[in-house]
Amino acid sequence: MAAYTARAHTNIALLKYWGKADAQLILPTTTSISLTLNEFYTETTVEFDEQLPHDQIILNGRVLKAHERQKIERFLDLVRQLAGIKTYARMVSINHVPTAAGLASSASAFAALAGAASAAAHMSLDPSDLSRLARQGSGSASRSIFGGFVQWDRGTDSNNSVAHSLKDPVDWPIQLITVIVSDQPKAVDSRSGMQNAFSNSPYYQAWVQHTNNSVPAMQAAIANYDLDTLGRLAEQNALEMHAQNMVANPPFNYLTDTSWGLIKMVQTLREQGLSVYATMDAGPNVKIISRPQDTEAIMTQLQQTYPDLKTQIATPGPGIQIWEEV
Ligand code: DP6
Repeated sequence: MAAYTARAHTNIALLKYWGKADAQLILPTTTSISLTLNEFYTETTVEFDEQLPHDQIILNGRVLKAHERQKIERFLDLVRQLAGIKTYARMVSINHVPTAAGLASSASAFAALAGAASAAAHMSLDPSDLSRLARQGSGSASRSIFGGFVQWDRGTDSNNSVAHSLKDPVDWPIQLITVIVSDQPKAVDSRSGMQNAFSNSPYYQAWVQHTNNSVPAMQAAIANYDLDTLGRLAEQNALEMHAQNMVANPPFNYLTDTSWGLIKMVQTLREQGLSVYATMDAGPNVKIISRPQDTEAIMTQLQQTYPDLKTQIATPGPGIQIWEEV
């Protein structure tokens, strides 16, 4: 069977997914809205081969051992089941999402795997079906099938819990400056973090309700080129997500003193008239939503306050691309 390659870009959630209504199917409690990023992506090649005694997985040039393959094998099992085949696969994946970029790679990784594996298994899935499939590898991957601004409807079943494009390409100047507070793996991964918040935070339902209620306003901000409303909603949503973790029982927290210092810096820049907003995922890095024209002012302030911290700038990116290897 032919080998297929897919390239999928990572995304940053502006309204976040943080908890599952159904952990098996990965149905979220909230509708989320994200921006796909151009600079960071995963490229994955898959080929089903009758000769293989088990799935062979090579990640960034390293052959994964049996215990490291489980999550990917489970996903390949799902593809085999849908395609009605039993053959094992060879998967070669390169992550162009450097750990040091401080952005999660599971979104681009499972989107690229869904694209390459389904094509290699001769299933021709449309983008919605790809999104449904990618979702079952990692929730945020459902959004990485599409470019630009994307919405993942939480839905009520595996069919209607799917992402779709809100605006692609993005025809207005928006960027994300990631300030890297730490490039170390996080102590609590997002899967268990969101499970903790879901089960143990007394305000979890309020967060769900407020996030879902914010969807129309975020959609309008995107449609109206309104960076200030978009940023304000995104920053509030991120802080509310982190607040869930801090009041969970037992509590946990991804943000360090430096993260809080950066959030304060962003808020101070805003008081001085700049359109800058912060968002944070399941880690300490702070991502600054801003306009390219303000990069210099933001960088000058960062240099003065945190001269040792590295940054990465990302701009809106495209949806998945899939091609046959020849
Ligand atoms: C904070 O998609 O990595 O980035 O579905 O368990 O694999 P699983 O979780 P994952 O969680 C992402 C959480 C987040 C917010 C978001 O991207 O919406």
